[in-house]
Amino acid sequence: MERKRVAVVGATGSVGQEFIQSLEGHPWFEVDQLAASERSAGKRYVDALRGPDGMIKWDAGGQVPAYAEGIQVRRIDELDTSRLDLAFSAVESEAARSIETGLAAEVPVISTSSAYRYEEDVPILIPGINDEQAGLLDVQSKRRGWKGWVAPLPNCTTTGLAITLKPLVEKYGARRVIMTSLQAISGGGRSGVAAMGITDNVLPYIANEERKVMVETRKILGSLEGGRIRDADVRVSCTCTRVPVIDGHTESVSVETEKKIGPDDARRLYEEANSGISVAGLPSAPEKYYAFHEDPTRPQPRMERDVGGGMTTTIGRAEEMDLFGNGLKYVLFSHNKKMGSAKGAVLLAEMLCSKGKI
Ligand SMILES: NC(=O)c1ccc[n+]([C@@H]2O[C@H](COP(=O)([O-])OP(=O)(O)OC[C@H]3O[C@@H](n4cnc5c(N)ncnc54)[C@H](OP(=O)(O)O)[C@@H]3O)[C@@H](O)[C@H]2O)c1
Repeated sequence: MERKRVAVVGATGSVGQEFIQSLEGHPWFEVDQLAASERSAGKRYVDALRGPDGMIKWDAGGQVPAYAEGIQVRRIDELDTSRLDLAFSAVESEAARSIETGLAAEVPVISTSSAYRYEEDVPILIPGINDEQAGLLDVQSKRRGWKGWVAPLPNCTTTGLAITLKPLVEKYGARRVIMTSLQAISGGGRSGVAAMGITDNVLPYIANEERKVMVETRKILGSLEGGRIRDADVRVSCTCTRVPVIDGHTESVSVETEKKIGPDDARRLYEEANSGISVAGLPSAPEKYYAFHEDPTRPQPRMERDVGGGMTTTIGRAEEMDLFGNGLKYVLFSHNKKMGSAKGAVLLAEMLCSKGKI
């Protein structure tokens, strides 16, 4: 198969850099164009990454991939969409709205921003979890008169929660969820968290985060009916905090279920879910979508973040929870910049490609 030509918009940012890394040598996608703000436009990619002190600001681990170093970064209006099969968008939500609207008129857009997540004709997709909702993309492009569509991923804190809840909703009737997150610094982007604020500290508030998790989880776990998504009957209450961890979100979850569930049932549930996962075998899919630990000292960000190339969701500390009747409590780990954004977006592109939508 000829590789599809893609653009990365917001290529210099925290998530954009992960896109550059995730697409290095990709068997299906070839990076054709890069775009960012006026600040970076006209520079070679590697020079656009330099701060005022001349230092290269590269957060994706290792080095800047050689293939991307010399690509000239464009302004959005300099993108040649006629050459593109797909655009990945990783810009702040305010800027994303008009950028993604303009791009989707011409090409499919997969986005990590929240700009379009809450529109009625827009699914929030997690590959392997709600693939069937991709059917809404055709409704969206027809309704809006676009050649493409916008397919957003969820907020990176929603990702791990929705992934772990999916089998619990289907097999045990999960209905009410209480979650407390311990979110990594990198989730705030390059300028999101000041070093002085987070060192030796826990920040108990992340603006707008909790509402996003509550709304998005219901939509992702919902069902596509008659050209729209019917939200799942799942209510989430959450407290989102920021902790001094570089990459990877940890979440403490308590779930009320209709059917009784204990730790052995949970282990079997996630083992079964692993063997039936739809994205198995795609280039960016991990060998194991779920990792389940009985060792009470797992999950830990430093031990889990590289498992499955950052694409495995880890579950540990599973215990029966009888506070409200039947239920389970557990701790999850999900990599915010891998499965929770760029590499998850690449896996989504692979899933949509395999369905013939790109
Ligand atoms: N960080 C995470 O873990 C994470 C996870 C999931 C989703 N997200 C979402 O992903 C998006 C990107 O997040 P991030 O953390 O990568 O942000 P970031 O580090 O602040 O990077 C923002 C990127 O957008 C570009 N940009 C800003 N304004 C622009 C404009 N008007 N036109 C074109 N490009 C513009 C910037 O270019 P310059 O370098 O030229 O300024 C930069 O490349 C956000 O919507 C965020 O909420 C982030």
